[in-house]
Amino acid sequence: MSSVRSTKLNKDKMIKYLDEILLIEKDTSEKLGEDAYGSPWTAKNFFYEVPDKWRYSSLALIEDLPVGFLIMSKWDNNLHGHRMGIDIHRTGRIKVRIAQALYHWTAKRARQDGRDYFSAIVPKANLSTQRWYKLQGFEQLNSKNLKWFIEGRNFSGFVSGDCLVDREKIPGEPDTSYVFKGEIKKLFL
Ligand SMILES: CC(C)(COP(=O)(O)OP(=O)(O)OC[C@H]1O[C@@H](n2cnc3c(N)ncnc32)[C@H](O)[C@@H]1OP(=O)(O)O)[C@@H](O)C(=O)NCCC(=O)NCCS
Repeated sequence: MSSVRSTKLNKDKMIKYLDEILLIEKDTSEKLGEDAYGSPWTAKNFFYEVPDKWRYSSLALIEDLPVGFLIMSKWDNNLHGHRMGIDIHRTGRIKVRIAQALYHWTAKRARQDGRDYFSAIVPKANLSTQRWYKLQGFEQLNSKNLKWFIEGRNFSGFVSGDCLVDREKIPGEPDTSYVFKGEIKKLFL
């Protein structure tokens, strides 16, 4: 069975593995489409600075080849997952393990730093990623507790059912999503 390794994704590694990361991103976007993932990020998006991005983002490798990335940033005492992309050519079970390895590395560092919660936005149409977060023990926020996320992140949007809707639709991007919240000290131990 392939052994998945995870490590930090700092700026040097982003430069080193940019081609592989852009390919994973393009494949994932093409496979899942606009509604479930959005248009592929470019190099500019991957290098865009957000707080503590290079401290908490992670990279997964199989036999020294990048197979997944997780782009994170800090807000309040929490961490937000901006983008998770995984090699679409792997089986479902291996993809699940790659996603776990990515979060495992980030969670370890986050616990060392005493961070509180993970947050992640998952498009309404992306059912398998929603299932993955639920099976990992994340809470899917409902209309009442979405306030934590909207106010904390100063999010420009509104609540519809239990979903968060962007106030302005960006062409090529999903605009209706669920928000997941996970307590860092209890996850990926
Ligand atoms: C999460 C992800 C890895 C799941 O991959 P997938 O190929 O769709 O896998 P599936 O949902 O079919 O799951 C495969 C199996 O693992 C199981 N599984 C899924 N998540 C699991 C978890 N967290 N723990 C244990 N098992 C899990 C499924 O139940 C399924 O089991 P089955 O084969 O017995 O039915 C994939 O959706 C992904 O790459 N997501 C990230 C990319 C993305 O969409 N990012 C944007 C939103 S943040």
